[in-house]
Amino acid sequence: MTSISYSLTPISTLKPEFLANPEFGKQCSDHMFCASFQNGQWSNHRIVPYGKIEFFPSMLSLHYGQSVFEGMKAFRMKDGSISVFRPNTHFNRFNRSLERMCMPTVSEAMFMDGLTALLKTDHQWVPSNPGSSLYLRPFCFASESRLKIKISDEYQFIILTSPAGKYFGKPYRLKVETHFTRTAEGGTGYAKCAGNYGSSYYPVKMANEEGFDQVIWTDARDHQYIDEAGMMNIMFVAEGKLITPSLNTAILAGVTRDSILTLARDWGMEVEERRISVAELDRQLSKGTITEAFGTGTAAVVAPIATIRIGNKDHSIPAPDHNAFQNKAASMLHDIRTGITPDHHGWNYIISQ
Ligand SMILES: Cc1ncc(COP(=O)(O)O)c(C=O)c1O
Repeated sequence: MTSISYSLTPISTLKPEFLANPEFGKQCSDHMFCASFQNGQWSNHRIVPYGKIEFFPSMLSLHYGQSVFEGMKAFRMKDGSISVFRPNTHFNRFNRSLERMCMPTVSEAMFMDGLTALLKTDHQWVPSNPGSSLYLRPFCFASESRLKIKISDEYQFIILTSPAGKYFGKPYRLKVETHFTRTAEGGTGYAKCAGNYGSSYYPVKMANEEGFDQVIWTDARDHQYIDEAGMMNIMFVAEGKLITPSLNTAILAGVTRDSILTLARDWGMEVEERRISVAELDRQLSKGTITEAFGTGTAAVVAPIATIRIGNKDHSIPAPDHNAFQNKAASMLHDIRTGITPDHHGWNYIISQ
């Protein structure tokens, strides 16, 4: 059991409107969990009021990018309790990211005890409107102050939480990106490190200027195979099969991706995790054999794709009706997370209050 000190805010900043229709990421809850790494170990585990933190401008993460994060969600269940969706899977991915960036891993006890203590402290911040949740953001950054390029000897681990409303994005218009890359095989794509997001901004800004919402990343070497869709994994339904790119070191192993593939297999659907070439995608979209295309991720769960541009050709994909696989998978995940449907896979981590 991790020993945690508490310094609580005397006045909560929670207002009813923060939970009624929260704008994603705008408002953080009253407290945060922090721990510091010094002299080779994590210590000073604490719950403190959410607020400014002070470091030197020479801290290494600002200059050389040792910074990783996770994104997961807590839900209000139908009996009023709180469940966190697959925190162990997020914990494992967090440590894989830390290892890739030469940062110290965290123990499962610290990660889970910190998360549990924070959710117990700020339990009233978990919204209960259908489709809403409390977004959880564990992150870690190098905090040693030194201008020299080096692996930091000091780090901070923090968990923030922020209410999130139901996702109402319009269907995506995407462009297959064949010039820019986000990452490459052997690079950091499988790690959730800050630099991957910074490197995406420019290509996505260019795509936005051409009228697209996001890009579909392709392999960095030949731009012939599909990797991901922006900040989501990508899936297709073709002739009744669920098809998605197999994982490689350039792709983030999405927790939503894994959950949806598991549900599809539970339902007896044929699932193919394999390389998908841009040429095959072009062919299948032209023939109309792809009946669904969607992104998967913690923020949206599933995000329908309406248009995919390949070269100078725009392919339209029909809007999903309520029988569409993506809608059935999204509502099954909602029902599991909120306790409406039994959690056969043990995905919910229940916070007892
Ligand atoms: C690059 C990238 N790919 C995929 C995903 C989807 O991952 P998950 O389902 O774990 O949210 C995310 C979101 O975190 C992402 O940032």
